[in-house]
Amino acid sequence: MKSVIPMAIQETFVKHFGEKEWPLVLKKAGFDPDNVFYGHRDTPDEKVVALLGAIMELKSMSMKDLSDAFGDHWVNHFAAKHYFAFYQRARNAKEFILKMNEVHDKIGSKVDGSKPPKFTFEEKPDGSLEMGYISDRNLIDLVIGLVKGVGKKFNETIHVTKLSESLLKLKFEG
Ligand code: HEM
Repeated sequence: MKSVIPMAIQETFVKHFGEKEWPLVLKKAGFDPDNVFYGHRDTPDEKVVALLGAIMELKSMSMKDLSDAFGDHWVNHFAAKHYFAFYQRARNAKEFILKMNEVHDKIGSKVDGSKPPKFTFEEKPDGSLEMGYISDRNLIDLVIGLVKGVGKKFNETIHVTKLSESLLKLKFEG
């Protein structure tokens, strides 16, 4: 996975817990404690997952809480700073989420070795959205955290229900 993801995981950790224990997280996850992530390089998927696992263990955090913290940081700080152009054309959370295939495809075509996730969308008559997640990485909890981050960005509450490991139901509250 592109190292922008572990970079943002590191920033999320440091924001919440400070710098001191970060080398411990790296060590626990099998990295050199002095490791530096470079966004354009690749980090093996299993090592990114190991990083999340190390934080959960060290901080007794659930995957849900870590995903919510990461989703908020990614959408409202990291991507908002590094990929701000993608934010300019959406007027609300739903429009932004509906653009996620376009966003990930654009990045995928620009970045060598990128294997971004894909999404399916089914808009329901009541305004809700069924969102399918297609990726062999199986990180649906991260998707939930990211969706909630998008809600915060647009000052909306999004009620997210996990229908399966690859399908979410999103209800938007303005
Ligand atoms: C402007 C906002 C966003 C940008 C620029 C962005 C970009 C990226 C990039 C570069 C990756 C790494 C891909 C790779 O290495 O192959 C990634 C992964 C991922 N993105 Fe996004 N993303 C954004 C928002 C979102 C949102 C809102 C969601 C969910 C609703 C999402 C879901 C994911 C997931 C789950 C992954 C992990 C990889 C996987 O599951 O296969 N992203 N994203």
